Amino acid sequence: METDDSHSSDSLSFFNDHLQESSKRKSGSRIILALDIPHRKETRNLLNDSIGVLDKVSDYVCAVKINFHLIIPLSLGELSKLNQEAHSKSLLSIADIKLNDIANTNEVATSYLWDCGFDGVIVNPFVGFKGGLDVVYETAHSLGKGVITLSYMSHPGADEGYGLEMKNGSSTYEIMLHRAIEWGSDGVILGATRSDKIRHARSVLPKDIKIISPGSGAQGGDPVASLKAGADYLVYGRSIVSAVEARESARQIFETLKTPPA
Ligand code: XMP
Repeated sequence: METDDSHSSDSLSFFNDHLQESSKRKSGSRIILALDIPHRKETRNLLNDSIGVLDKVSDYVCAVKINFHLIIPLSLGELSKLNQEAHSKSLLSIADIKLNDIANTNEVATSYLWDCGFDGVIVNPFVGFKGGLDVVYETAHSLGKGVITLSYMSHPGADEGYGLEMKNGSSTYEIMLHRAIEWGSDGVILGATRSDKIRHARSVLPKDIKIISPGSGAQGGDPVASLKAGADYLVYGRSIVSAVEARESARQIFETLKTPPA
């Protein structure tokens, strides 16, 4: 485990307080909607269709995660409008760009995200702190925004990176987890396909670092096992967004998580 670059903060997370408030307003929902609209050649109606999905499902989710599906095709003005819509429905908005570059690029990228109203950003801790993510933490936290770091992704190939073992017996995953603590992440991403890792992470992380878990639904992870292992929030994309009845799908997932099967 590394000990350099200690920038952990004891202060409460403004982002997590807001996420918790939003969850309370949504009857305790711990669902984060991945607003992953499939690719289309003609993007003229993309904003309206995205807002349409939010309209349908916002009663059952506490936040929306916006990925390249929308960040690439929409303009800054359209992303601002989408974030305003999310906020008007008491949803936090997280930009999932797995940011992974030098400080200057990271600063410019996140400044645009903050300008158009995102509340948090997902970053990749592989890139390192000094001259990499340092500026993102400083700026985000000074503005009350959240920084969420990857710890072990949900797809099978994640083993090729996060599963690598070091000579001293620790793994890349453990280093990423430790960075989250040292750097003061508001949350970590751990795939719902890996409840063993969620259990381990929950035993290591302070309570104020939330575990956000994608990979239930379309990727086959077990949401109930993830929650029991200690996940705080679950991310759902295609199983809601691509469902014939998005609202009904969100409702069913919400009900299942509220009263999980024994
Ligand atoms: P589905 O359709 O599989 O969508 O429910 C999942 C969403 O979450 C993203 N995703 C991840 N994001 N770490 C992340 O930061 C992960 O391990 C991970 N796995 C899935 C995915 O891009 C999609 O938006």
